[in-house]
Amino acid sequence: MNAPESLPGQFFSNEVIENLDNFWMPFTANRQYKAKPKVLVSAEGMYYQSDDGRKILDGTAGLWCCNAGHSRCEITAAVTQQIAQLDYAPTFQLGHPLAFQLAERLSSLAPADLNKVFFTNSGSEAVDTALKIALAYHQANGDHNRTRLIGREKGYHGVGFGGISVGGISNNRKAFIPQLPGVDHLRHTLDLERNAFSRGLTQYGVEFADDLERLCQLHDPSTIAAVIVEPIAGSVGVIIPPQGYLKRLREICDRHGILLIFDEVITGYGRVGKAFASQRYDVIPDIMATAKGITNGAIPMGATFAKDFIYNTFMQGPEHTIEFFHGFTFSGHPVAAAAALATMDVYDKENLFEKAIELESYWEDAAHSLKGVGNVIDIRNYGLIAGIELSSRKGEPGTRAYDVFNQCFFEEDLLIRTTGDIIALSPPLIIQKNQIDRIFDILTRVIKTIN
Ligand SMILES: Cc1ncc(COP(=O)(O)O)c(C=O)c1O
Repeated sequence: MNAPESLPGQFFSNEVIENLDNFWMPFTANRQYKAKPKVLVSAEGMYYQSDDGRKILDGTAGLWCCNAGHSRCEITAAVTQQIAQLDYAPTFQLGHPLAFQLAERLSSLAPADLNKVFFTNSGSEAVDTALKIALAYHQANGDHNRTRLIGREKGYHGVGFGGISVGGISNNRKAFIPQLPGVDHLRHTLDLERNAFSRGLTQYGVEFADDLERLCQLHDPSTIAAVIVEPIAGSVGVIIPPQGYLKRLREICDRHGILLIFDEVITGYGRVGKAFASQRYDVIPDIMATAKGITNGAIPMGATFAKDFIYNTFMQGPEHTIEFFHGFTFSGHPVAAAAALATMDVYDKENLFEKAIELESYWEDAAHSLKGVGNVIDIRNYGLIAGIELSSRKGEPGTRAYDVFNQCFFEEDLLIRTTGDIIALSPPLIIQKNQIDRIFDILTRVIKTIN
């Protein structure tokens, strides 16, 4: 099917999709979707355009990735130029300038000495790469017993076998057995009884971090290679950490020689007002997985950062030996690297990370204005993230929020995201105050009408 030429602001007719049958859609109720499809055909700035010509306000930055808004011409130009100059070059035993430039640029953005950057194509691959670096680090270090990985209940770390093993979302795991052996999970930190309607970091729950001590006692800490957590859990419906929690996790890891991995796939690249959440919380992991906002969503890419001491541990033995038997055909792809460099320029030029801080309290007040509306049982926020939890219908979890999602999309021209009965919001960082007002006005109206 030839797509008609399109400029931002124009749209394709819905005849473009003649057949919905063959695309097996990810994380989608395929039959439900195909019965009433939602189709996006173009995007610009804060808006998508639907196939029926409506301008839809993007409350989710695509899928937490278009932090600078859509169809940025600087990124388009960089991609166009790069694909014409060098469409592809391997990075196995070869290199091209942009991969090195990007690694340098990203390491200067990252905290402390998270200076070594391994490129992937997605968040899932960035996570599995992080887990493999952690395991291989201990082997290279002669610490052969450190083979266990610890994740957390309700954690989301993508869909690779490593990621689902350390992840803690039952539906993402239960059909895919067996998973990695030797994995255990910390308790999650969601505690509505004590923390409902908290603003920013939650007050109660620092002691959830002590659960790591329990696992250390249970398994023997000298068998634990790494702990992986999201600084803020997104996919499960926005779980903001308790004050002091991440710091305490860091301390326990240090006490026992355990590597700490932050999965910053959604929190990275400005979402919480700094380049990375670790900088906002002043808790520095040993390894960090990122993706999504790295290219503003324009081209698939991920990046896993490791501290110098980890990389240096690998750099032993004869120089002709490969130190880490891992990599992807598209690691550091030139077009993705060009997109990422242009993205970093846009973030820089427009001070977009700071914008999330500037707007944070306005965003927070707007989100919390939903308190008392309809079935809202909790509101959580941090940076430009908000989670609005609705009570579930008896025996039909997820359906209430899904109805809100549909009504917002079809009748109010607003894109939100729902997971279970939680509405997760993460707009592009270029959002304006009147657009924030619009999001929460619509949500108030819609939530009131959905029983
Ligand atoms: C925290 C976290 N880790 C990993 C992933 C997986 O990223 P991808 O879908 O690019 O594989 C996601 C995706 O939402 C995520 O939120």
